[in-house]
Amino acid sequence: MKSQHISIVGTGYVGLCTAIGFASKGYKIITSTHNVERATSINRGVPPFYEPDLQETLLNVVRNGYLKCVLTREEAVLNTDVTFITVATPSQPDGTIDLRHIKSSAIEIGKALNKKDTYHLVVVKSTVVPGTTENMVKLLLEKHSNKHCGSDFGLCMNPEFLREGSALHDTLHPDRIIIGEHDKKSGDALDALYKEFYGEETLPTIRTNLPTAELIKYANNAFLATKISFINIIANICEKILGADITTVAESIGLDQRINPRFLRAGLGYGGSCFPKDVKALIAFSNQLGYIPTILQAVQEVNENQAKHAVEKAKEKLAELNGKRIAILGLSFKPNTDDMREAQSVPIINQLLNEGANVTAYDPVAIPNAKSIFKNKIIYASSPVECLTDADCCIIVTEWDEFKKLMAEDFTQNMRHPILIDGRRIYNPEEYSQKLEFVTIGLGQ
Ligand code: UGA
Repeated sequence: MKSQHISIVGTGYVGLCTAIGFASKGYKIITSTHNVERATSINRGVPPFYEPDLQETLLNVVRNGYLKCVLTREEAVLNTDVTFITVATPSQPDGTIDLRHIKSSAIEIGKALNKKDTYHLVVVKSTVVPGTTENMVKLLLEKHSNKHCGSDFGLCMNPEFLREGSALHDTLHPDRIIIGEHDKKSGDALDALYKEFYGEETLPTIRTNLPTAELIKYANNAFLATKISFINIIANICEKILGADITTVAESIGLDQRINPRFLRAGLGYGGSCFPKDVKALIAFSNQLGYIPTILQAVQEVNENQAKHAVEKAKEKLAELNGKRIAILGLSFKPNTDDMREAQSVPIINQLLNEGANVTAYDPVAIPNAKSIFKNKIIYASSPVECLTDADCCIIVTEWDEFKKLMAEDFTQNMRHPILIDGRRIYNPEEYSQKLEFVTIGLGQ
């Protein structure tokens, strides 16, 4: 029997994966969303998005009574001891984050706390700019509960570092835990919960104040995005030096323990719901403070240009794109997810369409999401080979395992003109450039 009952407000990647992670270890979890369709689907054990292992684990915990989804924050709060806020904090047109969902969650949780007479811990897990937990969440909770933060209820900021595509694994095996605490009692309560949850596995835990915890999340994502843009500029330099190869450069610098090999894969740049949004938000936040974070501006610019890079390569090979048939392999922002938010496939396909190309695309799971973006402007193939058939050029946009298994012959035998642009460095250039017109990222050819 676990010591705490937990509620989770928000059922996106972070909310649902955190909920399922806790439930899979025997905690009673109540998730809450205002979306009736989403709640029904979760209560039937069907996740609203694709993520490896999520389907079976969700079904299991729902069937065993460890997880349910309700439609009001009040029901979730009144029946639990701890509430995690995991709602979305999307970008606004000026790059700043939209705190609308944080605000409404804090108000509803505050109102529910007003009806409770036991201590309750509120934990902000959503990515929020420094100051939000203290200046917005705390104030709204106190106002609507008529209670005092620190004595009647606790408040922590606990950033999340899970990656899509390995969300459940990351939830169960994080590198460390960051606890931003309003006061010691709140921090002790969250620390005790995590010690029980992770058991013997002693994880490095940093306890700090609320704004530092908030900034750690942005610094983490901005640093990883910087690594990617950095390796992409070195890849672009490689392309100008005959014989220089980014994969060997990345492997070699990665062996320096001060650098490490991860997040040094050159390609068409980063996408997803986190890096683009968080880099933008950190720039906007710094600007508001009167500071221009020049490195971050460059990181963003390099990333935007990296998508265009694929189209330029296609143009160089085909002379012009108008009327040409381009096969796009991979639509999601990375493998093992159907998420297309800020996917590099979107600017690539839009630019191809603007230049008059006919686009056929294939992705193992993201086609339903792609249809809501591109509608009938592109053709959707049901297999890689169907996608390649009669194409004048193919661009690998996402490095799905399924594409790594394709042979050079799959391209030569099915395409009208076998021109392959490997945007993710998944094929052996020596072999492929002998068999077809092969262009890749970060290789001086
Ligand atoms: C990222 C962070 O890695 C998580 O720690 C964080 O919790 C999450 O954002 C978040 O803030 O919620 P995620 O966006 O799911 O996770 O995916 P990543 O694996 O980080 O990949 C992001 C993008 O970078 C992808 O488009 C990927 O293709 C690209 N990437 C990654 C590269 O281009 N090269 C690399 O070497 C690594």
